[in-house]
Amino acid sequence: MAHPVRKAVVPAAGLGTRFLPVTKAQPKEMMPLVDKPAIQYVVEEAVAVGITDILVITGRGKRSLEDHFDRSFELEYYLREAGRLDELEEMKRIADMADIHYVRQGEPKGLGHAVSVAAEHVGDQPFAVLLGDDIMHQDAGVLAGMLDAFGRLGHSVVALKEVPATEISAYGCAAVRPLEGHLVEIEDLVEKPAAQEAPSNLAVMGRYVFGPQIFEVLSETKPGRGGEIQLTDAIKALAEREPVYGWTFRDGRYDVGNKLDYLRATVELALERDDIGPPFRQFLLGRLAKDLGLPPRG
Ligand code: G1P
Repeated sequence: MAHPVRKAVVPAAGLGTRFLPVTKAQPKEMMPLVDKPAIQYVVEEAVAVGITDILVITGRGKRSLEDHFDRSFELEYYLREAGRLDELEEMKRIADMADIHYVRQGEPKGLGHAVSVAAEHVGDQPFAVLLGDDIMHQDAGVLAGMLDAFGRLGHSVVALKEVPATEISAYGCAAVRPLEGHLVEIEDLVEKPAAQEAPSNLAVMGRYVFGPQIFEVLSETKPGRGGEIQLTDAIKALAEREPVYGWTFRDGRYDVGNKLDYLRATVELALERDDIGPPFRQFLLGRLAKDLGLPPRG
């Protein structure tokens, strides 16, 4: 890989209150998209761009994340005895694909605080941050494009996507100066502005590539919106000291913390599968035909 980033940080300490009651007794990161938990897509996205040292920032009630990426000897024994060797290999692959480390956030003091907890593990190196609510389709190439930009420019890069004005208040929002292609330079950032106060409709999506300078800025960042230490505020402060770039993209991102987007992601991913895709497509077409009052499909 042509980029210098070897480590990724995955904040996963949130309570998942947008998806209650399913997240009452299980972490939102374990919500399945077809048959894979959301966090596995995120880890695979990092591995696909050559990042295999991953620090997950966890909190209370997140033990199943660690179990998911650990070996399960009883299960492996059972699958071997049953001759289910493909599944056995897949279970081992999940446990072996990355060096995953865990640290607890302690207090839920915001995304900026969660990232600052990674300082010791990351050290004096660049790193990526991947938020587990944002699932990127493998064809979107967002992280690869951001890492390439970081490798060329040597400054932090944030993923940005246009959203309708009615949705901007759910995101960090960037005022930018266009450069070439996907690249823009960030001039200002506001965390979750009201629609009428938003400087643009470019929203921060949950992928970031930072130099280690962000830790110093985070240590000086005061609580912002919601009384939390906001990563967005730290990036704004960083952009006042040195260039910070945005990498804009359009397609291939799902917010799986949002029920409708979660369903969209599930349907898209199911349709792409070789095994269940064709019968699922038939089911959907039949269902639509019924809604449209068309005769049943033969
Ligand atoms: C967080 C960030 C926000 C960003 C969003 C992307 O918000 O604070 O700036 O736009 O992730 O998903 P959250 O979704 O955790 O409220």
